[in-house]
Amino acid sequence: MSFRASLSAFLTAAAMLTAVAVLICAPASARDRAELTVQYDHPVHAVSPTLYGLMTEEINHSYDGGLYGELIRDRVFFRRESRKFLKIWSVDQNAAGGISISIDNRTGPSRALPYSLELTAAHASPKDPGGIDNPGYWGVPVWPHTTYRASIYLRAKGARSPGPVTMTIVNSASGKVLARTVFPAAGPKWRRYTATMRTGDAATSSDNFVRLTVSHPGSVLMNVVSLFPPTYDNQPNGLRIDLMDKLAALHPKFLRFPGGNFLEGKTPADWYDWKLTIGPIVDRPTHPSPWGYESSDGIGLLEYLKWCQDLHMQPLLAVYAGYSLDGQHIRPGPTLRPYVKAALEEIQYVTGATTTKWGAVRARDGHPAPFALHYVEIGNEDFFDRSGSYSGSNGRFAQFARAIRKAYPKLKIVATMPVKGDVQPNLIDEHFYRTPQQFLHEANYFDHVSRKGPKIIVGEWATLEGTPTADFGAALADAAWMTGLERNSDLVVMASYAPLFVNVNPLASQWPTNLIGYDALHSYGSPSYYAQVMFSSHLGNQVVAARLAGAGPLCFESVTRNAATDTLFIKIVNAAPLPQPLTLHIEGAAAVARRGTLVTLSAKSTHATNSIRHPRRVIPHSATVNWLGPQVRHTFPPYSISVLVMHVH
Ligand code: AHR
Repeated sequence: MSFRASLSAFLTAAAMLTAVAVLICAPASARDRAELTVQYDHPVHAVSPTLYGLMTEEINHSYDGGLYGELIRDRVFFRRESRKFLKIWSVDQNAAGGISISIDNRTGPSRALPYSLELTAAHASPKDPGGIDNPGYWGVPVWPHTTYRASIYLRAKGARSPGPVTMTIVNSASGKVLARTVFPAAGPKWRRYTATMRTGDAATSSDNFVRLTVSHPGSVLMNVVSLFPPTYDNQPNGLRIDLMDKLAALHPKFLRFPGGNFLEGKTPADWYDWKLTIGPIVDRPTHPSPWGYESSDGIGLLEYLKWCQDLHMQPLLAVYAGYSLDGQHIRPGPTLRPYVKAALEEIQYVTGATTTKWGAVRARDGHPAPFALHYVEIGNEDFFDRSGSYSGSNGRFAQFARAIRKAYPKLKIVATMPVKGDVQPNLIDEHFYRTPQQFLHEANYFDHVSRKGPKIIVGEWATLEGTPTADFGAALADAAWMTGLERNSDLVVMASYAPLFVNVNPLASQWPTNLIGYDALHSYGSPSYYAQVMFSSHLGNQVVAARLAGAGPLCFESVTRNAATDTLFIKIVNAAPLPQPLTLHIEGAAAVARRGTLVTLSAKSTHATNSIRHPRRVIPHSATVNWLGPQVRHTFPPYSISVLVMHVH
């Protein structure tokens, strides 16, 4: 769904609900004392062990210019379809080298990239080198005494070689070279050259660019220019460390990928053709993200899976199901067959032994061990397909589901909307983008949903308030919503916020409210991010019977316990601007320790937020408390999200 369509949908609903919300959500008076009675020995149901996870796609420069460590923007120079030059590159106009660039359409380093950039120097010299510049993704991060991995594909062109190609990181303000490496002069065949370069005493900054220069007259062909800083776990072609650390703190149990709209593409030609995202980078042609820029596909299918492995998440693999954002669909039947085949092959790439065709390809790509896969989602938001081609008894869903079930009977199949006929999904993925008022109003939504139908995945949800990242008002509504997810996690087995990431440069983002923001150098979590860290790190394995009485309509609770460790987690969200006094009664427990922990996230205003410059304005505070017991009186501050961790026998 485009942002515009989604925004107008929720704004219309918001307008209708605001009046209602104002009436029903009048804040509790500070005098009303609420009672929360917890029956410790009465677990209601298990907490879904997969409840909290991540949803991800290439939006807002989530990967290119985000999680993916690559620093060179548009490293292959041209768009896949149009071969249009990606103008992010520029000729170093100050150099005296007489540099010109053009596309050579006849040769490239691979079948996927059958073209290259021809760089010609009319009169470069060691004293006056000339070349081209790349600004990175709104800057190139430099840290002192840091080693970078550089690489490039080169091939000589014509009789005159311009000699070795030098790569430097240059500070934009001072023109000072902060790191430098030299690739040898290219030979007559395409070859990948690799090198490392190291910064010295340079100050930490992102106001830098990357320059490629030659020092002699002549022409050279180049492609796939690459530069990586240190990456998570030091992996080649790896991921950004600070962002991976932030994700790890969410304790995610699954990763839903590769979209979202990124799975679907704007037109049928832009579908997520997973085979074009595997293997060496030079074999990945890139493809247009529906969010308006070319995706490098440096995070391809295998990188998603390794990311799952790194953070101990299980994959929730979404397969392309024949619907694109421009409203076109592939007709069920013979025309859809190649896509069904591609999905089966994709599942084999993920799970197959090395004796299978695609399992062997995975082994060739460096990962002989198969990945465990339990869930496959067919499509994304197919309720937008007004033709009904997805949901009919012989529709797109049924065609995919039949084939997948036949080949992989143990897999759980997720539909993106209710479907008709005999072929039913194991789960349905429902998406919720809401205003704060809507989510506060709907926090108990799942309390009333029938348990007779398929289980539910909330594959995308978010309170849309705050730009580029969610503010504290959004965090309060998100937390209220999450109390409902936890209480109903017998039905809602997985939930993931979206979008996860945003590069905060205004030109980088397409979606208003996101969870984690960053620029080239720094990152921060929004208040909503911290609310999620609090919820996912204090989650028992059973929901405990609890009754909240006398609280204002903006007070929400979730109570879970971990029976193995005798720990009780009491979450209270007070989304009102007034304090909420509350008496907590723990019944059915032999003893309740006086000592425990109180974690609080609060702010004076719902507009309070975090940013690159102020990353820790709204963060949780944890305190050891010694006033707990079977009966506790505590006043929860206005606008606060609290978790009480109690030890009970
Ligand atoms: O999260 C942003 C977009 O919202 C997703 O790509 C799409 O599935 C939804 O409409």
